Amino acid sequence: MSNASSSRVVIDLDVSGPTISRHLYGHFAEHLGRCIYGGFYVGEDSGLPNEGGIRLDVVEALKALDIPNLRWPGGCFADEYHWKDGIGPKADRPSMINTHWGNVEENNHFGTHEFMALCELLGADPYVNGNVGSGTVQEMSEWVEYLTRDGDSPMVRQRKANGRDEPWKVPFWGVGNETWGCGGNMRAEAYADLARRYATFCRSYGDNKLYRIAAGASDYDLAWTEALMKAISCLGCGREPKNIFQAISFHYYTIAGSWDSKGSATEFALDDYYRTLIKAQDIDRIIRGHSAVMDAYDPERKVGLVLDEWGTWWDVEPGTNPGFLFQQNALRDALVASVHFDVFHRHADRLVMANIAQTVNVLQAMLLTDDDGGLVLTPTYHVFEMNKGHHDATAVPVHLVEQPEPYELDGKTMDLLSASASVKDGKALISVSNLDPSSPADVVLDLRGAEFRNPAGRLLTASKPQTHNTPTDPGAVAPVALTDLAADPRGLRVTLPPHSFATVSLDV
Ligand code: AHR
Repeated sequence: MSNASSSRVVIDLDVSGPTISRHLYGHFAEHLGRCIYGGFYVGEDSGLPNEGGIRLDVVEALKALDIPNLRWPGGCFADEYHWKDGIGPKADRPSMINTHWGNVEENNHFGTHEFMALCELLGADPYVNGNVGSGTVQEMSEWVEYLTRDGDSPMVRQRKANGRDEPWKVPFWGVGNETWGCGGNMRAEAYADLARRYATFCRSYGDNKLYRIAAGASDYDLAWTEALMKAISCLGCGREPKNIFQAISFHYYTIAGSWDSKGSATEFALDDYYRTLIKAQDIDRIIRGHSAVMDAYDPERKVGLVLDEWGTWWDVEPGTNPGFLFQQNALRDALVASVHFDVFHRHADRLVMANIAQTVNVLQAMLLTDDDGGLVLTPTYHVFEMNKGHHDATAVPVHLVEQPEPYELDGKTMDLLSASASVKDGKALISVSNLDPSSPADVVLDLRGAEFRNPAGRLLTASKPQTHNTPTDPGAVAPVALTDLAADPRGLRVTLPPHSFATVSLDV
């Protein structure tokens, strides 16, 4: 193609970087809008195929992503959720008002047992987020006991009375959410002390080893991370708490406009496209910032960093409840995801988990459903699927030695090419995005350190970045074979159309 840019990417297939935890491909499902009710859960009486009220077409579509973990019940909702209201016969469960999300009535029909059943259907590890903002230490402690304790105890007897004899495995436990805001409007030091107290009573029962995650910063709030790290490591205080927290979190959303006017998911100008990708690429700087603070307290990188909410956040679709955060998902969103994953892979020595917000019908979802049984796979879904080979693979170094000049807008720059690679079980997977919205990219994959065979590529693109999938055109953005893939003296050469994402797999 004549106006194509030329790039060269050196990939050292024989140099092992960190393991890319599969948990970097984690998910988040909150009692918000139509994520749980109408998305995952339709109730046993629904005419749609379901198991215990869980929508089976949703499960089937998500199983193809090998979802490693699912965070629940929030989000902001977590800090007003009282788990005991969500167990026992449904008719007896009290209702509450979901004050964060639309002030709608929550009937608690989807509770602990339903969530654990969902995780079992998906084959995903549960990540339960406990209530610090309006709950008690006892309430959180008893939830852990109810879920994970074996033998005999008050909570175990209650669990058995509700039909579950065996304890569940719950590896991941969140201690509050956004406690600087909706989770209690606390100061960092105040939360840090509280978090230590709550975490003390979240026990590891039997062989269920809780991985406790402290509620972390927003965006680039490094002071919050510093306060938590100080509290965890207790430097100089003489009473170091042992293993109270295994990780701390932070949240970062790609909001291209302002908080009050975020912009449309599907109707946007070229500058909005650039602004979005600039914001997405900022995740690299933000992770580096939090990691640097953590390194000062934890140079051996034993404490994990968890990005348990990320993704695009647009204005809601016209005519929908503003509190339900229902947005469309275009090719642009898919590129936001691919950029995030390249960055995640680079930081896999510190970043141990990430959860996209949210899985169904809310924010940057994988699936959009309707009540009549319609289900659409979003462009973002396809990036998760195409990148599956990176789960638990070894990251290998990727050097963009030749690439187009970065694009400049509003004093900020955006790289036009993004890439990452990994090796697992004799297979290499290379992910590469051409973010240039106007020009194709000729990319030489300069493959070093190993012989390779059987290269095969897949491509995700569309005629414009606004393209999205709908019930009438569900395949407008869907992966196809990458045909512009050829041998090159240095390895392989690919030609990527404008605004596209591709994966290349090899036997090595
Ligand atoms: O994902 C939507 C909301 O965003 C979550 O409830 C909250 O944690 C964050 O502000």
